[in-house]
Amino acid sequence: MKVTISVIKADIGGYVGHSGVHPDLISIAERKLKKSKDLIDYRVLACGDDLELIMSHQKGVDNKNIHKLAWDTFIEGTKRAKKLKLYGAGQDLLKSTFSGNVRGMGPGIAEMEFEERKSEPIVVFMADKTEPGAWNYNLYKMFADPFNTPGLVIDPNMEKGFKFEVYDVKEHKRLMLNAPDDIYHLLAFIGTTGRYVIKRIFRRIDDEIAASSSVERLSLIAGKYVGKDDPVLVTRAQHGFPAVGELLESFSYPHPVAGWMRGSHHGPLMPVAFEDATPTRFDGPPIVMAAGFQIANGYFIGPKDMFKGPQFDRARQKANAAADYFRMAGPFEPHRLQMDEMEYTKITELMEEYKDSWKKID
Ligand code: F6R
Ligand code: MG
Ligand code: MG
Repeated sequence: MKVTISVIKADIGGYVGHSGVHPDLISIAERKLKKSKDLIDYRVLACGDDLELIMSHQKGVDNKNIHKLAWDTFIEGTKRAKKLKLYGAGQDLLKSTFSGNVRGMGPGIAEMEFEERKSEPIVVFMADKTEPGAWNYNLYKMFADPFNTPGLVIDPNMEKGFKFEVYDVKEHKRLMLNAPDDIYHLLAFIGTTGRYVIKRIFRRIDDEIAASSSVERLSLIAGKYVGKDDPVLVTRAQHGFPAVGELLESFSYPHPVAGWMRGSHHGPLMPVAFEDATPTRFDGPPIVMAAGFQIANGYFIGPKDMFKGPQFDRARQKANAAADYFRMAGPFEPHRLQMDEMEYTKITELMEEYKDSWKKID
């Protein structure tokens, strides 16, 4: 049977500050999704201050009913968030009326449709205090680097490699590049994480979808800084796709990402257990959680908390050490983001304010 997985998320109010989701918002979302006739199954999780709706159905991607369900859930949650005076209630809902699709309205969306295999393991990754380009490193490691994924060398279904769909989020264009053939060119683009973002990955042998991520950038929608775009990612695993452990392995190095305090700092991406998904130190560091599921006739068997175990303790320690190192730089680059990534913040206003005070040096 054909199944669609839709992960739609938004920050609709923080508890406390920008660090978490209040339990009421989770119950409201669960109640709302439970009533839906369109879904096969759902799970509601929280990562930092982001409410994550993980849904399965048979309506395909970009379906109006599913998107409306997510939107209405966020609207209802926002009402409660406002009552409780949660922080930044309704923060990510940038538009007031729903017009058929939540894309471009603030929430992040990662969806994929596939023919469910005999056994269908998937992993949903959710991050807080970072941006969509944060996955570029991991997706490259998972689907293009044999040092991370030996399956690329060993499994005959993977030896032709994977096709990467890259979005230029500033110019609204997309490009398809193949791995391994085009890896140097691919890396040349996706190394610029604020602009080139991997949206989807397909297996080349049969064009099966392998991964789908959210690429929404709030500041580009709103034209001002309104928080980072805390991304989600859905990946399929095993039997011709990277093994679950190959997907997770890419997070053993807590690579530097943009986000953290005020969405304006580089810091390490720390893999955390569900119960530890609360960015505290300097509103961070940026965190990622991994929810593993077996899909059975469209139902979610899980989630399994994939970063909970001691296997990822070392990555967390490394992330803490890296956080110390970054923090010592204070307001200096490259801890603080470069100028062009600060364009929607107060820095732009400051440039304007001092425009005429700068005197020419002869
Ligand atoms: C980053 C984030 C937080 C806030 C910071 C200031 O994505 O959400 O680091 O930017 O806590 O928040 P405000 O401006 O709401 O006081
Ligand atoms: Mg927030
Ligand atoms: Mg967030």
